[in-house]
Amino acid sequence: MMSKWPEKVGILAIELIFPSQFVDQTELEVFDGVSAGKYTIGLGQSRMGFCSDREDINSLCLTVVSKLLERNNIAHAQIGRLEVGTETIIDKSKSVKSVLMELFEPHGVTDLEGIDTTNACYGGTAALFNAINWIESSSWDGRFALVVCGDIAVYAKGSARPTGGAGAVAMLIGPNAPIVFDRGLRASYMKHAYDFYKPDLSSEYPTVDGTLSIKCYLSALDKCYQLYREKYDKLNPNAPTAISLNSFDAILFHTPFCKLVQKSLARLGFNDFLQTSPAKRDTLYPGFERFDELKLEDTYFDRDVEKAFMTYYKEVFETKTKPSLLLANQVGNMYTPSVYSGLVSYLISGDASELAGKNVALFSYGSGLASSLYSISLSDNESQLRTVTDKLAHIKPLLEQRQKLAPEEFTRLMEIREKNNHAAPYVPSGRVDVLFPGTFYLKSIDEMHRRVYDRVPTDL
Ligand code: ACO
Repeated sequence: MMSKWPEKVGILAIELIFPSQFVDQTELEVFDGVSAGKYTIGLGQSRMGFCSDREDINSLCLTVVSKLLERNNIAHAQIGRLEVGTETIIDKSKSVKSVLMELFEPHGVTDLEGIDTTNACYGGTAALFNAINWIESSSWDGRFALVVCGDIAVYAKGSARPTGGAGAVAMLIGPNAPIVFDRGLRASYMKHAYDFYKPDLSSEYPTVDGTLSIKCYLSALDKCYQLYREKYDKLNPNAPTAISLNSFDAILFHTPFCKLVQKSLARLGFNDFLQTSPAKRDTLYPGFERFDELKLEDTYFDRDVEKAFMTYYKEVFETKTKPSLLLANQVGNMYTPSVYSGLVSYLISGDASELAGKNVALFSYGSGLASSLYSISLSDNESQLRTVTDKLAHIKPLLEQRQKLAPEEFTRLMEIREKNNHAAPYVPSGRVDVLFPGTFYLKSIDEMHRRVYDRVPTDL
């Protein structure tokens, strides 16, 4: 019997996959007939990864789980909980997790808790929290938990389409980890909202109220930040300073598009401003008197506030947040993996010697809505941290090995997905030879909608 609470529960390994094909956002601007710069500067996006009909949510998750286990030499029998966060639904009642059992059954592993968790882009965080809770509970049997988040983010033609993307992340969770979840410091904000949802079950595309979704995202950020601050104060009654942007070395966000994240960092700065005593405001924020009386809830689209705080916090954004945006900029919104692609981007942004000992805040948001702000601490032991970061060295080169497709071809492949969504029987037409080594792909769907997968030989 285990008598002691496990210490330092956190991430022991992390794996990320993205599609091998992308469309260039500058070319997409021309193709869509919008003004030059709208997607690249206005939204802050460079490239968007996408999948042909050869990949679906099951194949993405099969790929990411297999790669994590292979790259880190983890035996299937070492996993005691496997949970998937996704909003890409194909079999409705049947979980993606149940499909992943195909990887474990041959190893005699069927005692594996966990199923799928869904709420827009938040499902991965819910799965992660469940995994941490399991390890910290009386149900824990000493094995690792594996958290998988994956999505194919596609929008109908129109203004939301350039904010798509696709990918998957798998995280190995256990005690004595190099990346530790701070205890007692999760702040959540949940609310009913129709900002983004998928009521048409025959379509992959969501129904989106773009403006409302941004307002919901920003208000959730405000609320989570306030609550995090309160929880921190309660846990640390004698702390010399309150929580502010200075408390973190990095601040990572769910990233629908990079510009929103730059605005969000500035938004936290505006929160700090409102928390600063009037006496100190004059010295810290000279010339900002006009914002003294403002209320957070009146300023979601206040251009003056937005601009002033984005300018004031430009340096902070460059150092504490921009390094986490590489994958979001290069692949797009991955939905559930988005904030964890931010973590991977951050972990490959510098050497382990620079990252050791850093405090990182993460904001996870899923429309509908569910959100949390929590924090992690990177080990100050450089070689321990390297056990995670060394396994991510392939990511940057792989981004460059992707194949660029013209917007016409991207649109054609989207139409094939659209036309054949839920078709059965069905044999996909997407090319297999363009997929990265080790990628699982959809071979066929039979008349009972049963899917069969195959795998490109792995290089691991
Ligand atoms: N050069 C530079 N910037 C430009 C240009 C140009 N030529 N043209 C437009 N812009 C700027 C705009 O000013 C705007 O920036 P701003 O808000 O900082 O002023 C930005 O580009 C986008 O332009 P809009 O006209 O606001 O774009 P539109 O309304 O057509 O679509 C939206 C944007 C609403 C985000 C849409 O892509 C969408 O609905 N996406 C999906 C929803 C989403 O991602 N929501 C976020 C949270 S929920 C989630 O994660 C799914």
